[in-house]
This record gives sequence, structure tokens and C-alpha cells, in this order.
Amino acid sequence: MSDKRPFYVTTPIYYVNDVPHVGHAYTSLACDAIARFKRLDGYDVHFLTGTDEHGQKIEKSSAAAGMGPQAYADKVSETFRSLVGTMGFSPDGFIRTTEARHRAACQALWEKLKAAGDIYEGKYAGWYAVRDEAFYAESETEKGPDGARRATASGAEVEWVEEPSYFFRLSAWGERLLAYYEANPRFIAPESRRNEVLSFVRSGLQDLSVSRTSFKWGVPVPGDPKHVMYVWLDALTNYITECGYPDTTHRLARFWPADLHVVGKDIIRFHTVYWPAFLMAAGVAPPRRVYAHGWWTNEGQKISKSLGNAIDPVALVGEYGLDQVRYFLLREVPFGADGDFNRRALIGRINSDLANAYGNLCQRTLSIVAKNCNGRVPARGPATEADEALLGRARSLLATLRDEFEEQALHRALIGLWETIADANRYVDAQAPWALAKTDPARRDTVLWVLMDAIRRVTLLVQPFMPGSTARILDQLGVPADKRDFAAFDVELPAGRELPTPSGVFPRHIEPKPAG
Ligand code: MSP
Repeated sequence: MSDKRPFYVTTPIYYVNDVPHVGHAYTSLACDAIARFKRLDGYDVHFLTGTDEHGQKIEKSSAAAGMGPQAYADKVSETFRSLVGTMGFSPDGFIRTTEARHRAACQALWEKLKAAGDIYEGKYAGWYAVRDEAFYAESETEKGPDGARRATASGAEVEWVEEPSYFFRLSAWGERLLAYYEANPRFIAPESRRNEVLSFVRSGLQDLSVSRTSFKWGVPVPGDPKHVMYVWLDALTNYITECGYPDTTHRLARFWPADLHVVGKDIIRFHTVYWPAFLMAAGVAPPRRVYAHGWWTNEGQKISKSLGNAIDPVALVGEYGLDQVRYFLLREVPFGADGDFNRRALIGRINSDLANAYGNLCQRTLSIVAKNCNGRVPARGPATEADEALLGRARSLLATLRDEFEEQALHRALIGLWETIADANRYVDAQAPWALAKTDPARRDTVLWVLMDAIRRVTLLVQPFMPGSTARILDQLGVPADKRDFAAFDVELPAGRELPTPSGVFPRHIEPKPAG
């Protein structure tokens, strides 16, 4: 077993009722950047994603598509799997809830909850939103002008359901949940979400219906197959299925409790109330942290199937480039806040942050080196105050980024990196290495070495966000493949190393002229 520290990070598992849009890509992208950062920082990372394939919503969509639910799930799940490649995600596992290992884990968890006395048989009579796969109290719903009742928080239509059901004794867990939140102040983030959950739990919890009898597409309840498990009990269990539950040795012992579940703000309650209560009732430790990010709108509008304005991440990557899209999504909006997707902003960032700032810094530094230093890493002489200022800033970045990743402040990490890029560009202007070529070649070499080292450090840290482009920049800087993790952050470039011919990595985006 590795002596590295384990780190387990998960995305939510995606419903297979529809193909992925940019909102889904976003959750996974954030996890991918975090997983890559931790790997580079020497952790033994397990990064899990996958698809959520049971429940009434999937049963209904498959019927509407004229397909059986399994064939339908197989087909749509594949689009999420192929998005992994398109977006450059690096998961260590891809789970599907229709796998046999998952059914076994759900049933084992059920038996534990039953044996603990936390599950009893009854009858559910209340409101249910198929779109959210959620039960709502009447007070959480309102009637619209069209006469339809909807969940106030999500806008999903609710229907009245009355059927035999098993219940989980959630009402008995309120105090223990509050004690867990109290003892683990980092469990729910950001702070505003934590407050929202605290007040929900303090207001008193109702027992939760955890089985359905009016449809079939789910994991059968052990010993009572008329019932299928409530899809959220089924779905949340995926995080421990992956670890081999109910076998508590091996991966469960190593990676559980999960270090981080990243979720959208709409599903925070499931992850921070139901999930820890199920786990505690089953004698399993709750996860360490749940971070809820915000929602994207499209040019000011809510993204929805009915509006037909979902943004296809595959098309976006085709049009603007993979790393360009990855950078924009994580830079544009503070992680945790809501944000608006608009193309002008995307193009603006591609041209200013990537082409003009980062790309230009690399390109002008490396082309002067190619022209003046025989295409080799120059030798450094004594450092001036200006050299030390830039190098000092670049050296401090790793510690700063570690703190920011600890808080999932991905946008702040990028802001800090780009401030250093701006400093470095000002340094090039002030030092004017092209002018030193004739007057003081030794000083010119020092300036170029300082620039190359600053670019190297910044680029090592940009890797989790833009793996492809940074690999090309590191190639051009002559950084060997085994010197690209953070353990090599302080391994400086040796003078004299031969460099490949530089070429631009971040082209400007020019909008094609409308036809005609
Ligand atoms: N299947 C459940 C999760 C079960 S986890 C045990 C689910 N699936 S989902 O496909 O509807 O949503 C998956 C993720 O995508 C959620 O984190 C959700 O917040 C995110 N997003 C869906 N639309 C989004 C936006 N418009 N913007 C940002 N994220 C969005 O919920």
C-alpha cells in the first residue's frame, strides 16, 4: 500500500434522463482540478464520478423515448462517460447505479438500517416532485396561476402520492446531526449553505419515506420486493459502493470517510442531512466535507430543458478549445456563487487572460531565448531587487494555492496565478531583455532565466486547470516529465539545457464572420 496520504473526492452521479450540459461538466471539472492538484501535491487520490440510473424520473424518460429503462440508461450513461474524455477529466472510477456491486451495497446498507431499528413500515401520503426526486411538505410548495402546485425552492411540479412505504427515522437524528455539524465546522461549505442546513435541521426533521411501490425501476427492498428503494438512498450509497461496502477492509478502510463531496447547491440537503444520518445509523463515519457550488445561467436565463437553452459542453470545446473552456468556467465565477455564461465574457478571457497575458509572456520570453541564447537555458548571474521580487512572488504561490484548494477557492487560485503573470509581464517591459542583448548579455541572460523560472513555477500550478496547454509550455521550458509535480517546485532549471523551438500555445479567438 502506498505511503502517500489518501484523498477521496467525488462528483454527484448524474441522472441519465438527459445528455450532459455545461452545468454537469462544471461540477466534474471542479473535482477534476482538485483531484489533479492533490495528485501533483503527492496524495494518493481516488476521484469518483458516474451516473444515477434508477427512479421514477428515469423510468418516465425511458418510456417517453420508447426504450426499456436499462437500454436507455446504458445509452445516456455512455454520453457522460464520453464527456470524461472530451473535458479531459481524470477520474479513477466511473460508477453506475445499475451495477450488481451497487445493488449489493444498497441492500447491505438497508439491512444495517433495519437491524438498527431505523427503518419501519408505514404509508406515505404527501407531495412528490419527480424532477427533483424529492418529497416536500405542503409548506414547501405553492400553487401557481396555472393551478399546478410546485416546489418553491426548485420550481418542479409536485404530485400527490399515497402508497405503502418504509420510513427512515430521520426525526430521531436531528440532535446528533447538529452535534456533528458543531464538532466539524468544515463539514458544510460555503458558510451560507451551512447556515441554511443548520436552520433546516433546527426547525425539526420529519421521518423520510425511503421506498416506493408505485413503480418498479430501482433496487428491490430486501425481503419485500414490492418496494424499490427511494432513489436518493440508492444514489448516495454509490460513494461507499465504490469503496467495496459492505466489505470494510481494503478501499473503505483507506479512502473512507470521503474527503470531499462536491455538489451543486440544489442537492446540499441530501448530502448534509440524509446522507450523514443514514451513515451514522449504519455505523459508518460521515464524509469530512460537502462543498456546494452555485448554478450557471445562460446569457441571463435559467438553463432548462423546456427552454431548450442547455449549453452543450462538447460543442463548446470544439468551438473554443478544451483548456480555454476549462479556464473560463473556473475563473469567471467565484466557486460557490452563481454565474452567468456568456460568450463575450468567454472570448474576452481567451484573448486577454490567455493569449495576451499568459501566452504572450511565454512566447516573448522563449523566442528571445531561442534567438539569443542558442536555444538553451541561459545562465543566471547575481540577482537584483526586481529579480528577487518576481522570484519571491512565484516561490510563494505553492503555499498560497494549497490554502486555496483547502477551501475550494478555485477562482482565487487562478487570480493569484494571473497576478504573478501580470507582474512578470511588467518585469519584461521594465527589464527590456531585447535591448540588453547588445549592451549587457550577462544581465540579459539573468533576466531571461528569472522569467523562465517564474513561468515554470506558475505553469506547474496551472496544470490542474489546463493540463494540455501547460504540458506544452513545460516542454518548451525543458522541464523533464518527472519534474512536474509539486515535489519538484523548487528544482530550478539547469543552465545549458537544450530547448525545443518555441511555438504559441494560446491563440487569440477571432469570431468567424457571419455568412453572407
Ligand atoms: N442524481 C443527482 C445527484 C445524486 S448524487 C448522490 C442529481 N443529478 S443531476 O444530473 O440532476 O445534477 C448533477 C449535478 O449537476 C448537480 O450537482 C447539479 O447541481 C449540477 N447542475 C445541474 N445544472 C446546473 C447548472 N445549470 N449550473 C451548475 N450546476 C448544475 O442531482
